[in-house]
Amino acid sequence: LEYAIGIDVGGTTAKFGIVNHRGEISNRGNLPTNEHDDVNRFINELYDEIQPAIKEIGGPDLIKGIGVGAPNGNYYNGTIEYAPNLLWRGVIPLAKLITDKFNKPCTLTNDANAAAVGEMMYGAARGMRDFIMITLGTGVGSGIIANGQLILRHDGFAGELGHTVIRPKGRLHSGTGMRGTLETYASATGIAITANELLDQRSKEKSLLRKTPHKKMDSKVVYEAAMKGDKIAKDVFKFTGQILGEALANFVMFSSPEAIILFGGVCKAGKLLMDPVKKHMEKNLLPIFQNKVKLLFSELKESDAAILGASALVWEIKPEPK
Ligand code: BGC
Ligand code: NA
Repeated sequence: LEYAIGIDVGGTTAKFGIVNHRGEISNRGNLPTNEHDDVNRFINELYDEIQPAIKEIGGPDLIKGIGVGAPNGNYYNGTIEYAPNLLWRGVIPLAKLITDKFNKPCTLTNDANAAAVGEMMYGAARGMRDFIMITLGTGVGSGIIANGQLILRHDGFAGELGHTVIRPKGRLHSGTGMRGTLETYASATGIAITANELLDQRSKEKSLLRKTPHKKMDSKVVYEAAMKGDKIAKDVFKFTGQILGEALANFVMFSSPEAIILFGGVCKAGKLLMDPVKKHMEKNLLPIFQNKVKLLFSELKESDAAILGASALVWEIKPEPK
């Protein structure tokens, strides 16, 4: 009996769990990542937080290793490098810090890469050899699986599709200084910005969203209003879906995947998001690509894909060799 610890480091919280070979997660927990910029403090808190769980499964000897998915994570170096949505600045040798503290080997990769591996092993991509995972959260991430392997390429950073430019004169990303990147529109943050913009532009139109001050706007509020039939809220998803669909068409023509899998809380919007995504993806594809790519939602419970994928890296799944 052996276990892995899987950790999904997000811009707001880190979620962790103890995972067995079958991909069953026990002893989940989470910890804020947005409260201070001291990564050592985070690691100490994580260590304390996870001790009872380790005891419960029978002690540290049963832990084979620790897998981490993190924004701007680099598998080759075990580092997080200049993550735009984290308070930890510069290059953070997270895998080394974790190994030193826990006295266990630690494998780190990009969070969306980890999610892609999780989906391939346990979710909607079982049996697929070529697909792209898109994670829609605080940021927008992606993991590319080609010929059954996680793609990292020359520097280890392949698959940062959230930062591709989709509206050259578009929104400014405060974390990267770039304009019009997919992340500025299709992330949960981007959705809130779109909602506020539409409310301002259509100031005479009634909307349930007007109850929420601009600063408190978030994708959940928009989704709930859209489900109640609110016109502006529904238009937020139309617009978001259009931008995402256009971006996906580019990704499809670049890599010819069998499927694209969408993941993250935003997916709760279901058809409200998927219909415009599909429409605009197909519209922007060359005929040779049309009506071929499956568009799917993740089959893993929210937050599990990256925990599972990160832990899978501890077992056997290795990215393509360098
Ligand atoms: C980061 C990616 C990450 C994504 C989702 C982006 O801002 O650059 O590395 O995968 O957010 O967390
Ligand atoms: Na990635």
